[in-house]
Amino acid sequence: MDPYKVWLSEIMLQQTTVATVISYFTKFVSIWPTVEALARAPQEDVLKEWAGLGYYARARNLHKCAQVIARLGAFPNTEAALLELPGIGPYTAAAIASIAFGQQATIVDGNVERVISRIFRVEAALPAAKAEIRAHAATLTPRVRPGDYAQAIMDLGATVCTPTSPDCGACPWRNACGACATGDVTRFPVKAAKTEKPVRYGTVWWLEHEDQVWLRRRPPTGLLGGMVELPTSEWHARRQAHEPPVDLTPVDLKWENVEGNVVHVFTHFRLELQVQRALLKKRRNMEDGFWHPVDKIDQAGLPTVFAKVAKLVNSLNGRLL
Ligand code: ADE
Repeated sequence: MDPYKVWLSEIMLQQTTVATVISYFTKFVSIWPTVEALARAPQEDVLKEWAGLGYYARARNLHKCAQVIARLGAFPNTEAALLELPGIGPYTAAAIASIAFGQQATIVDGNVERVISRIFRVEAALPAAKAEIRAHAATLTPRVRPGDYAQAIMDLGATVCTPTSPDCGACPWRNACGACATGDVTRFPVKAAKTEKPVRYGTVWWLEHEDQVWLRRRPPTGLLGGMVELPTSEWHARRQAHEPPVDLTPVDLKWENVEGNVVHVFTHFRLELQVQRALLKKRRNMEDGFWHPVDKIDQAGLPTVFAKVAKLVNSLNGRLL
């Protein structure tokens, strides 16, 4: 199988469902049919096409990795060499090695962890149990068609051995499964108690001028690095008033609070944004951003948190002010 397509799909599928990935994957391979084509693309274009998929470091690393591979002249074909590449961890290295190159590598994702912990009745709790689960998983990986096996066990986890309502009657491993034998399948995988996510608060500013909205690009690294955004304050642990950036504070602007916060859940915190909007009557020189047509906001490449803000503002009756 084409290692480029295997790699691209596996990166997209991390923390993201197949249903969400399909349209993104199709679009990417139609715009960039080879790893060389992707390597030549401007990073901004790649981030724009990734908008909405989340975990944007994946897109930045994807682009970097394409450039490394293009320079190498071919896809590395061993797990060890793949692990050296930007954005390729144990999961992706094993996926490419087994699915694209037919090597006996063991893929462990959340689905596989669930299946394996049930078969072997792993009592240790995740995430500490990962090494034990991986060792059990490796004992089952076949030498013949390891890539098909890997995809089959992932699909088994996604469709039959599901978290809360496994269909054990339909499972080809029902006779070999420790948890099925004792009837306590959903007790596995055992998970350590989750701590609640901290909340952060911020303000985001929607500035309109002649049916255009003012957008910026975020700094290249960090959360949502390199992505397009609406101007936003820093995000703090306490609710507080925020001053708009100096560019957005001409005397004639009247900022109006928009009712209803935008809430977005990131991996490590939950964000609540107060939205303020204003209409700029007279065009003025502004730095650090660009105007974008409001009716084409869905093509601006906004990550989901800011797409939610746009949706809230545009859902208001009686257009601006
Ligand atoms: N989830 C992520 N990659 C997958 C694959 N190749 N097959 C099935 N499920 C997957």
